[in-house]
Amino acid sequence: MFMPLNKYFREYGGVYKLSFAPVPQATFYVLSDPHAIKHVLKESPNDFDKGLLSEILEPILGKGLIPADPETWRQRRPVIQPGFHMRWLERMTMTFNECASIMIDKLEGEADAGNLVDMEGMFNSVSLDIIGKAVFNYEFGSVTRESPVIKAAYACLKEAEHRSTFLLPYWNVPFLGQGKFSVVPRQREFAAHLEVLNDTLDTIIQKAKSLKNEDDLEALERRDYKSIQDPSLLRFLVDLRGGDCNDKQLRDDLMTLLVAGHETTGSLLTWTAFELAQNPAEMRKVQEEVDRVLGGRNPTMDDIKKLEYTRLVLAEGLRLYPQPPILLRRALKETKLPVAHSGSHEDQASSDMQPSGVSISPGANIFISVWNLHRNPKLWDNPDSFDPSRWLRPQPATNGHSSWAGYTPRKDMGLYPNENDANYGYIPFGGGQRKCVGDQFAMQEAVVILSKLFQRFDIELAGSPEEVGMSTGATIHSKNGLMIRLKKRNV
Ligand code: HEM
Repeated sequence: MFMPLNKYFREYGGVYKLSFAPVPQATFYVLSDPHAIKHVLKESPNDFDKGLLSEILEPILGKGLIPADPETWRQRRPVIQPGFHMRWLERMTMTFNECASIMIDKLEGEADAGNLVDMEGMFNSVSLDIIGKAVFNYEFGSVTRESPVIKAAYACLKEAEHRSTFLLPYWNVPFLGQGKFSVVPRQREFAAHLEVLNDTLDTIIQKAKSLKNEDDLEALERRDYKSIQDPSLLRFLVDLRGGDCNDKQLRDDLMTLLVAGHETTGSLLTWTAFELAQNPAEMRKVQEEVDRVLGGRNPTMDDIKKLEYTRLVLAEGLRLYPQPPILLRRALKETKLPVAHSGSHEDQASSDMQPSGVSISPGANIFISVWNLHRNPKLWDNPDSFDPSRWLRPQPATNGHSSWAGYTPRKDMGLYPNENDANYGYIPFGGGQRKCVGDQFAMQEAVVILSKLFQRFDIELAGSPEEVGMSTGATIHSKNGLMIRLKKRNV
């Protein structure tokens, strides 16, 4: 869907309206402008909820953080966010290395046999293994085997994606029946897979609760995560004093973290590798840095901070291929969006888009097109080219956008250039109160996997970029897999 929205963006500008009927529910405002996007995400977040997304994902994610209504979100975010503390992230670096090593061993075998490898499948498997361990200490082992639970997990993740590309919840049509009793085979199959996954989650939750060892937050943050047997987020959520919730909410939280943390990272790695496979000079820069910083060993958390160029390569991967490419919201009350004033008619594509702002009625839908924002030629030089070193240079606001303050690299930029550095011209993990809770986790995971890959291999696209193709779900996928020829490095 983000491709036609990009075409209209080029014709009608940073804020335009698609209307399918004269009611707010059938109206979609498409935002590609940093001011309007900042307004929705950061300045007036309470004027909006997740709208269609919540309706679509409710049967799968329930009231987990991503689709959560504002009230549930206010209760659960303060409980879940502290789970991503420093000591835990440091422990997770070990998990990233362990899971990535299994992938590398498998790739060695494939390279020795001269086989082409679908790296998209590989990255999705390794990120599923990692998220299973991180969230509920579950060993999917999907890089090396298949199991009914892996099959069920993939089927549910696929269905979540499939539904998120439909604007009408066709699975709720009463006369078609629901779940196991639906007349639609796809829905019956999905219900069966969901049951397998729910049973597995229930067992895991009951086991964690039977071993409950309550503590306050400070004590949980001080635990020796390197030596405890189960360092998962579930353990943290069960043990956190005052963080109690019912089993259904816990299940929804776990399922949401599984979905949110899986294909986002898999897709980030896929599209970054897609670009590097076509840019040998950029690949060499990553390899030079990885060899210099790691000297052949596994990356630690300190190393991840030193692997600056590798992180910028990933940041550039997220600029060109944002995951997800579109964020959804719905207006809860009458509100006004600011519009950019570039002096062109393009920024006022409809009669309710006055220079003073765009009036939005309650119930209207908002599409934040991160794809358009990140490729907006009024913000970024050569927006369609893969140029990781752009993040080392300031990007002045000289491209025709009168009121964007540009991008300024921070001296110590943390793990990635963020939405504030770029004044909302770049929002790789969203922004404002509903910003991603897993951003540090995801960046560290991706750096470990990418650096271990390039320690050992050169990569090359097996066919043309067009053969890889592109299709959208909740994240961006290839059409035909990312087929890669691996060459072992002599280091
Ligand atoms: C490269 C990887 C990732 C990307 C690009 C990404 C991107 C995003 C974005 C853009 C949002 C904001 C959505 C919105 O405003 O509508 C978000 C929210 C969220 N992400 Fe991530 N994410 C990634 C990895 C992860 C991981 C690893 C986890 C957990 C382990 C995670 C958990 C969440 C959760 C729970 C939310 C909802 C936060 C809230 O509403 O309070 N994400 N993510």
